[in-house]
Amino acid sequence: ESLLVRDRPLAGKRALVTSGPTREALDPVRFISNHSSGKQGHAIAAALAELGADVTLVSGPVAVPDPHGVKVVKIESADQMLAACLDAGALDIAVCAAAVADWKAARPATGKIKKKAGAPPPALELAPNPDILATLSKAGPKRPALVVGFAAETENVVANAIDKRIRKGCDWIVANDVSPATGTFGGERNTVHLITAAGTEDWPPLGKGDVAGRLAGRIALHLAEAARK
Ligand code: CTP
Ligand code: CA
Repeated sequence: ESLLVRDRPLAGKRALVTSGPTREALDPVRFISNHSSGKQGHAIAAALAELGADVTLVSGPVAVPDPHGVKVVKIESADQMLAACLDAGALDIAVCAAAVADWKAARPATGKIKKKAGAPPPALELAPNPDILATLSKAGPKRPALVVGFAAETENVVANAIDKRIRKGCDWIVANDVSPATGTFGGERNTVHLITAAGTEDWPPLGKGDVAGRLAGRIALHLAEAARK
């Protein structure tokens, strides 16, 4: 494996990674969002860079530091994340690890929404956000050679992820169990399954850095094999 790193097998390849949550404003002081520390996505960006890839990391608000050797684009909303991804130019690899909010406020208020004595709480009208993974997967001739998504599931993890791979049109899905008992959110470890067209691989529980290293290695191997064909 160290030999593989030294060879920088992803030199000359351009990779995009999304990471962290998005924030969808309700008004200037409030937002809806998802749990996501950014640890897994940031570790993947770092691992791809370590193998020599030219990496753009598009990240929502996170507390983890920017990885070294990676171009970091900071965004807040899903709309901004999509725009930044489409701005990244031609790509060989896209890994969507961000926890994108599925919905945003249909009409975010321009001023702070105030409480009024005796009035009922405001109703929240939501509108769908763009699906960044599906957009990249269906980008036609500009589609990256390898598009990888994540599937955060709390039940039927593998079955839901297999469906998700087809629905999104991506090549691989990294499926993880995020039910509260696993401590995945914010934690250091991740138990994942790699779902490809060839089937499902169950990986052992690993640190998020090790999941990232293993995934980056698999990506390098896949692109090398594709180039030989
Ligand atoms: N994703 C994305 N843009 C969205 C929603 C999801 O890019 N608007 C990506 C995530 O980064 C992840 C994959 O799609 O790689 C799956 O996200 P997930 O939330 O598990 O799937 P959804 O299709 O949103 O389905 P649901 O939340 O209903 O399970
Ligand atoms: Ca979702």
